[in-house]
Amino acid sequence: MAIKTIEDIEVTGKRVLVRVDFNVPVKNGAITDDSRIIGALPTIRHLVEKKAKVILCSHLGRPKGERNREFTLQAVALDLSTKLGAPVTFLDDCIGEQVEIAARGMIDGQVMLLENVRFHPGEEKNDPEFAKELAKVADIFVNDAFGTAHRAHASTEGVTHHVKESVAGYLIQKELEYLGEKTAKPERPFVVILGGAKVSDKISVIDALLDKADTVLIGGAMAYTFRLALGGEVGDSLAEPDKIDTAKSALEKAKEKGVEFLLPEDNIVCDKLDFKAGTLGETKVVEGDIEKGWEGVDIGPKTVERYKAEIAKAKTVLWNGPMGVFEIPEAAQGTFAVAQAVAEADCVSIIGGGDSVTAIKRSGYSQSVSFMSTGGGASLEFLEGKELPGVAALDRK
Ligand code: 3PG
Repeated sequence: MAIKTIEDIEVTGKRVLVRVDFNVPVKNGAITDDSRIIGALPTIRHLVEKKAKVILCSHLGRPKGERNREFTLQAVALDLSTKLGAPVTFLDDCIGEQVEIAARGMIDGQVMLLENVRFHPGEEKNDPEFAKELAKVADIFVNDAFGTAHRAHASTEGVTHHVKESVAGYLIQKELEYLGEKTAKPERPFVVILGGAKVSDKISVIDALLDKADTVLIGGAMAYTFRLALGGEVGDSLAEPDKIDTAKSALEKAKEKGVEFLLPEDNIVCDKLDFKAGTLGETKVVEGDIEKGWEGVDIGPKTVERYKAEIAKAKTVLWNGPMGVFEIPEAAQGTFAVAQAVAEADCVSIIGGGDSVTAIKRSGYSQSVSFMSTGGGASLEFLEGKELPGVAALDRK
């Protein structure tokens, strides 16, 4: 049954507690990626236009249940206020008398941001007492924190037991539409691009997507574990020899399902990778096996051409995980070429969160894709087919 959303309820004049995911990267007090704040704007604007009293709450970082200035949401309040073109009242706690007084005094259309919910140990423990305290200020609860929907915490799950109505915001709705509906019944061919360092991080995602995809393109260090599974050599490349059987099962499943499963035919390799310094030593293109003393850092030019041709044929593309060490320019070409191909393809293009979103932004093609998920772990769990507690707890239509 479909979940209820903010369009299904009456919010005017009501106090609406909105759980957003404002867990954004902050460096020296400045927000370095505001995608999650931008992602929450449609919901906030809708509530403001409808003259609700909007009380936002979120976590930031992992302060382990203690108040810690390093993880304050104050900078977010300022940024949000600029984006909304209206003041955002910032409160230095998320529960307690001061919060209740401030909430009671709100006027219709006002926006307030509460301090980090993880300053209280009850948040991550999903303590019912803490959830009850949070709910005290609310007539209605809206969850729009897709990035945190895989956590059964007090502000994502517990709170729903203490309010009359709990519904989804626009961001959660959009994430479920793209990561869910559009990949469950995709327009075909459906091409899945998977990269990243570890097979172990993505194996459940690979398994679930093999039931849906027509073609799977593998890149990143994950590809070296697959090469080992096929009896190849990977030299000093990052690989997981203990995951060879897992990789073999995925290859077998692909065969059974008739999914075209492509691994890199060539790689960019280097003799010395220093990630911190951003240097690679000597580099070369190698076809097939990689010899000792060399490690793979990107997909090679032949693979890029092959993958581009597959992407150009797609009607739906889902991409999760970079093709190489894209943080270093000499190892970023594969990832950026794939980004360009995805952006230029005439298809529904979905970027599955985390590093792939950072990569497509750096490539300069992020404006040309259909959807970029704001979730990291949440996107992966959802793509694995797991139920997200923050979504499961919401009212049904
Ligand atoms: C994320 O960034 O993945 C979410 O905000 C969840 O954060 P967490 O992994 O600290 O729970």
